[in-house]
Amino acid sequence: MKTLVTYYSDSGNTAKVAEGLFNGLKVKDKTLLAIDKVTSLDEYDMIFCGFPVIEHSVPLKMQNFLKSIPAKSNIAFFATHGSVRDSAKAKTAFENAGTLVKYSKILGTFGVRGSVKQSVIDLLQNKPEHRPWVDEAITAVGHPNESDLNDAVQFANQMLEKVKYKAV
Ligand SMILES: Cc1cc2nc3c(=O)[nH]c(=O)nc-3n(C[C@H](O)[C@H](O)[C@H](O)COP(=O)(O)O)c2cc1C
Repeated sequence: MKTLVTYYSDSGNTAKVAEGLFNGLKVKDKTLLAIDKVTSLDEYDMIFCGFPVIEHSVPLKMQNFLKSIPAKSNIAFFATHGSVRDSAKAKTAFENAGTLVKYSKILGTFGVRGSVKQSVIDLLQNKPEHRPWVDEAITAVGHPNESDLNDAVQFANQMLEKVKYKAV
């Protein structure tokens, strides 16, 4: 099964998850590429797309990439974010990503915490409306960690099983 793991990452967290996920994928024919290195998308049976949650949504570069994915592709999303796992905001970002690939199958989504750049914390911490998020985001330090990467691998192999057994 020809599988692509592709990602956009600014400060390295999503790249780390992409690499961990890729290394643990139980498939022989696999490719890992940053989105700006992807030249063709036609030949893949499965495409994993990873991105950091930015302002509760999908970074522009990944938005444009998602729009270029051929119809009827099998896709799974993974993301890193400062907020806690399975938070409503992270879910919103996945929903937004899904609207950009509406003629493909979204097999699943996986979100994990990623430490937030100090410059973002500094910028937002004195703004009362952002204070609750900042308080949450500073506790993401140290993520993604080994346990997060193991969870990412487990998620990714579950997605492959879905394609293999056509459970989609
Ligand atoms: C400009 C900016 C906006 C962000 N907005 C959010 C957000 O809305 N929600 C969230 O949970 N994390 C947010 N984050 C935190 C990132 O999603 C998190 O640090 C992520 O792991 C960064 O991934 P990367 O290292 O691959 O770039 C933001 C980070 C930046 C730099």
